[in-house]
Amino acid sequence: METVRLARQGEIAIATIDNPPVNALGQALRADLARVLSEASTDPAVTAIVIAAAGKAFIAGADISEFGKPPLAPLLPDVLDAIEGSEKPVVAAIQGVALGGGLEVALACHARVAAASAMLGLPEIKLGLIPGAGGTQRLPRLIGAAKAFPMMLSGEPVSAGKALELGLVDEVAGGDVVAAAVTLAQALVAKGAPEPARERDDRLTAKDREAFEVLAAEASLKSGDMPNAMALIEAVRAAFTLSFAEGLAAERALFTALLADPRSKALRYVFFAEREIARVPGIDSAVKPREIARAAVIGAGTMGGGIAMCFANAGIAVTLIEQEQAQIDNGMNRVAAIYEMSVTRGSLTPAKRDERVALITPAVGLGAAAEADIVIEAAFEEMGVKQQIFGALDAIVKPGAILASNTSYLDVPTIAAATTRPQDVLGMHFFSPANVMKLLEIVRPAGVADDAVVTAMALGRRLGKVPVVVGNGFGFVGNRMLEARTRATERLLVAGALPHEVDAALTGFGFKMGPCAMADLAGNDIGWRSRKARGKTAAVADAICEAGWFGQKTGRGYFLYPDGARTGQRDPEVEALIARVSQEKGVTRRSFTADEILSRLLDPMVNEGARILEEGIAARPGDIDVIWLNGYNWPAWRGGPMHWADTIGLGVIVARLEAQAAETGDTALEPAPLLRRLAAEGKGFADLKARPV
Ligand code: 3HC
Repeated sequence: METVRLARQGEIAIATIDNPPVNALGQALRADLARVLSEASTDPAVTAIVIAAAGKAFIAGADISEFGKPPLAPLLPDVLDAIEGSEKPVVAAIQGVALGGGLEVALACHARVAAASAMLGLPEIKLGLIPGAGGTQRLPRLIGAAKAFPMMLSGEPVSAGKALELGLVDEVAGGDVVAAAVTLAQALVAKGAPEPARERDDRLTAKDREAFEVLAAEASLKSGDMPNAMALIEAVRAAFTLSFAEGLAAERALFTALLADPRSKALRYVFFAEREIARVPGIDSAVKPREIARAAVIGAGTMGGGIAMCFANAGIAVTLIEQEQAQIDNGMNRVAAIYEMSVTRGSLTPAKRDERVALITPAVGLGAAAEADIVIEAAFEEMGVKQQIFGALDAIVKPGAILASNTSYLDVPTIAAATTRPQDVLGMHFFSPANVMKLLEIVRPAGVADDAVVTAMALGRRLGKVPVVVGNGFGFVGNRMLEARTRATERLLVAGALPHEVDAALTGFGFKMGPCAMADLAGNDIGWRSRKARGKTAAVADAICEAGWFGQKTGRGYFLYPDGARTGQRDPEVEALIARVSQEKGVTRRSFTADEILSRLLDPMVNEGARILEEGIAARPGDIDVIWLNGYNWPAWRGGPMHWADTIGLGVIVARLEAQAAETGDTALEPAPLLRRLAAEGKGFADLKARPV
């Protein structure tokens, strides 16, 4: 099927790109575009060419799925060279998004017209890359490097209006963008086309270079573990120091090197994994969601209030319900204070705040949930409490309403059993702070209707979340794996590592926080209570709690937080306490390297992930990775725990786990059968097929 249609309007040829879903520049499209342009160029009846597109995007960029495979001709830079070299003016008619290679197509045209709603950007940086089809050379020539560089460094698209202001487009169309582009093309035929970007150097002034170098120096300080920021600086600098052709070659060499970098591979893997989660194995894609116009949230604590804010932020009316007036007043005050903070910081206007607060109706008593299309329970984490609430809701809410529990550990079918409508009951596990964190685990217990799951997914997306369907099982996916890491932390501390060493290994890996600092932030008493309820112990963590050191809120935990400090300091008393625990257990403490600590923290998580896959609690390894990226701060350029394990090699992980199991005598560290099987077959998690949860 042809991906570009050629039509004529008088003397103007219109090449319309039509390569659903987003007009990505795969090989077929590149070939068709080159062919159509050549036809139009040689047609004597044609005086100018408009490149337009059908669908929601002008062009979403290069086809990311082709990256890492042998390049197929024609290459995008060659197609763009033909566009720019055309003797007949070429005008881009941009609607929807023009991203990456898509914007680079437009930059190679002689002029650009954008629809008022269009968005234009070079997001390659987010994939660990830099623009690879002339973006780093043409954009500075069109708008100056001091403006081009920040656009490429952030990867954030700009609106059509902003693009006009920057000089990135020549015109914003009031009406039909193709009609406006045709009119502009006719005008260019009459008066002569402007010089293409490659011929221009009027913007590349000494002043522009100076401003760019200041920005480049700032960016190189912040570039952290991503090599592409440095590559971007080098490529943009080449626009000043090299000829256009040499600059293009330099950009291409940098781009090609980055394509092979494991960090870019991981980011590209994440791009597809985050899209894959929308396809729920075992549920027909034709199943439609139920309509959600009104919601209710039970429990106005930190979690419930945050969830209510998610609805209000998405423009959905929500009733926030408590048992007593004083509790709901407190909850509403907390919500108001959070919105106020956003107003103070300038991220929310007072008018928007009022609009959002007005969407939250405070109420006392479950009766107020009667009109809701979905009820999310965020009450105390205790089965008895949940069952009582769900039993009561069953008699109150209308038929077809979805009843969701925000439980983080409890058995969802047992909660559903308190109702007469298990087909409408599922888990919607938000992460704290609920109004900020993107992750949403949708727990799919046996017996829940497919359209209830689809509704929760669709709602999650409306709330701006990353919803992932998971199976029912203690701690579901994220917290179950977190627990494996928490147990590993405890083992390391007893064996000889100190809290700051454990944390440093993880922050060195790319996490924002290590497990000890994270426990101190969340409150050590939370895990302590949960352990006690389950009859479990953790000698170090328990001793710290017994001393009343619950973390930041008490000024000390694994670390010291003098005068309300948010960054912890080493605490000699805690370190002595840890040494005492080791002694009591008869353990001779030894030191650990950062690599050993990492392996001991992360390998058990991978093992737990393998068990989760075996048990059908997660549909795909990618779902686990998306959960860890969006809920637990796993560094995106490491791709998530399962992708990371694949990069290490499952054989290596198996051997390390066996050694850890032998050393500690902890059978939980024995490699999961799935892990062993994949390793024995020389495979990775990426070789697994999706299966229903
Ligand atoms: N390549 C391959 N597939 C792509 C793609 C791309 N550039 N962009 C989107 N897709 C696919 C998605 O995987 C998805 O496929 P699926 O339905 O099978 O899961 C489908 O298109 C729809 O995508 P979304 O679900 O993301 O749709 P949205 O409407 O939410 O978003 C979008 C559309 C804003 C275009 C978003 O997809 C996006 O941001 N795409 C990536 C843009 C990008 O990074 N471009 C730069 C690529 S690198 C480059 O161009 C290098 C160059 O300099 C040489």
